Amino acid sequence: MGGFCMPIEVNRSARTWTLSGGNTSYVLHVDQQDRLLHLYWGPRLPGDALSFDPADYFPYVSFDLPVAMLPLELPVCGSGWYGTPAVGIRNSCGDDVTDLRFVSARVLPGKPALTGLPAVYTESADEAESLSILLKDTLTGLRVTALYTVFNASGAIMRSLLLENLGDAPLMITSLQPASVPFWRSDLDLIHLNGAWARERRIHRTPVDKGEFRIASARGASGHEENPFLALCERNADEFSGSVWGCSFVYSGSFQASCRVDLFSHTRLSIGMNPEVFSWRLEPHESFTSPEVVLIYSDKGLNGLSQQFHALYRSRLVRGIWRDRSRPVLINNWEGTYFDFDEDRLLSLAQKAAEIGVELFVLDDGWFGKRNSDNCSLGDWTVNSEKIPGGLGALADKMHALGLCFGLWLEPEMVSPDSDLYRAHPDWCLHVDGRPRTLARSQLILDLSRPEVQEYIISVVSSVLSSAALDYVKWDMNRNMTEAFSALLTPDRKKETQHRYMLGLYHVLETVTAAFPDVLFESCSGGGGRFDPGMLYYMPQIWTSDDTDAAERLKLQYGTSVVYPVSAMGAHVSDVPNHQTGRSVSLKTRGNVAIAGNFGFELDLARLSREELIEARALVARVKQVRDLTRAGTFWRLLSPFDGAETAWSFVSEDQREVLLCVYSTISVPNSAPLRVRLRGLLPDVWYKTEDGRRFYGAALMHQGITVFLHGDFDSTLLLFKADR
Ligand code: GLA
Repeated sequence: MGGFCMPIEVNRSARTWTLSGGNTSYVLHVDQQDRLLHLYWGPRLPGDALSFDPADYFPYVSFDLPVAMLPLELPVCGSGWYGTPAVGIRNSCGDDVTDLRFVSARVLPGKPALTGLPAVYTESADEAESLSILLKDTLTGLRVTALYTVFNASGAIMRSLLLENLGDAPLMITSLQPASVPFWRSDLDLIHLNGAWARERRIHRTPVDKGEFRIASARGASGHEENPFLALCERNADEFSGSVWGCSFVYSGSFQASCRVDLFSHTRLSIGMNPEVFSWRLEPHESFTSPEVVLIYSDKGLNGLSQQFHALYRSRLVRGIWRDRSRPVLINNWEGTYFDFDEDRLLSLAQKAAEIGVELFVLDDGWFGKRNSDNCSLGDWTVNSEKIPGGLGALADKMHALGLCFGLWLEPEMVSPDSDLYRAHPDWCLHVDGRPRTLARSQLILDLSRPEVQEYIISVVSSVLSSAALDYVKWDMNRNMTEAFSALLTPDRKKETQHRYMLGLYHVLETVTAAFPDVLFESCSGGGGRFDPGMLYYMPQIWTSDDTDAAERLKLQYGTSVVYPVSAMGAHVSDVPNHQTGRSVSLKTRGNVAIAGNFGFELDLARLSREELIEARALVARVKQVRDLTRAGTFWRLLSPFDGAETAWSFVSEDQREVLLCVYSTISVPNSAPLRVRLRGLLPDVWYKTEDGRRFYGAALMHQGITVFLHGDFDSTLLLFKADR
């Protein structure tokens, strides 16, 4: 795939640019009036396949202005286009009329970095090519650089916008959608990942309809409710076939994504900043860079889309030494002890964990200040010496002596009103003078848009990380923003607060992760409230959800996998009855679900029987046997928990010679035939052998399937196949 010509073909006379990679092309054109138009995004085409004919766009009779019918690549306000603008600008005269005309275009090797923002990267310049298109609004002096990158092998495309004020009066950015893509049809379905705390990222699919469909977060985090992702697909597309177009916003703050079908039944998909909580004043000579959007087209259904996202995010978004490494089997004490622990209890848990093969002990909330419940001490990141008399350094040494790595929970973006930090700096939190400071979980959010707050967090986290031999950090963020207007900003800049917070957070994360490159960082936000590509750039894994119930986890992990690789998902075996749902699922099935993620335990091992501890030890051995396959293998969704009582997924090694099939049932159905699961992505003409010696022909496994016997509620099985010859 790819490589038969340059990824970006330029046709100067036709003023057309064709970005191609894998089996995808994306075509841009500049018309005679110097407007940037979108001609195509879909299956790969040669560079000369498409040209622009105005007659294709204009009906014989219409009262609408021609510009409303054009497939504008960067729609703007005020001269005949009526939807959400990709670039919305209010000028110093108070109007928002903007007129972007083409100036020049340049092809660049590789992919330029987006300073201060998370972004997909290349490791060598020949992996991708970029196109920089300059446009200008002459009256205001606004210059826009639309930056595109296309990956040669996969066809993944990134889009971002650089806005520069070359005029002599300030401009106000009121809307910014780095991706805004028109489709010449509306016979499509829309897919988004909707949820709530403890039930994040459910797959929702709905027919595209007239009018506008919008998802958004204004919470100052990407949020539990919607994920910064939207896809369109053909009505008959399924997991395995059909066209799907996906947009994923590489950002962790508030966002919006919309799908609008206009009066001509054309559809426009856009994603970017949420104008309810974002605007930005651009002084003369200042510039603003938008976060980027990743666009992926698949002609192989939703699995095809997801597999491309997984490969890209796993290898060209995640960074650092943990990117390509097996992740340690961990035990986290949160659901095992909550706040009720002391050093002896932790060490006895650690001892038991070491005995069953666990590799990392994570000390969760409650080790600092005087925190014995969630109502105090955030901000006071010094060890509670009543609970841990010898301090963190000595505890880390004891953990290491048991053969365990040691990690810690931190929630550095927060402050409790009952904390020394708050008493010293009551003005450091997000607040509005004269209004109550709205508490959530008894805490307030530090104003990370302020440089001194960023520096405080960098220094306090660095000193905790230097005070003990820490191998891992769980970086939590447990509430959404209120009164999100920084005290330091002037009135016309107040709506910059949320984005400035994100830039501040990214600066903090970049500094801390660079200073401690060996530490494994896991992001968390009340479970999966900030499960987005932005956080993945800094931290290779994310706590998927506070819901650890195995049956619910099937939906959680299945839905999350639409965009995110399994290597990003924390997955723990917890106690029964489950603390979130009250449901009891066997240890076998809890293990078989958690094995399909970054595996851990989150329970008091003292509550397990001798038999259960033996089972847990075997489970850990199994995790270690398959974890490279689950981390780096191709993930296939086979049977959906959203469609019926059975769920199946599989992991196929890169050489297709090793396969792990995972099958689960929820509520059993009487008098039902044994389940047949058809595998995908195998070598058709190779024999595969299971661990119990059964042999299956690859094509037969894919077309006839394998019979799987499950019995009772919440049963499950794992089958490991290896190519026989
Ligand atoms: C959040 C996290 C949990 C746990 C608690 C501790 O809810 O998602 O995993 O760390 O905070 O307070």
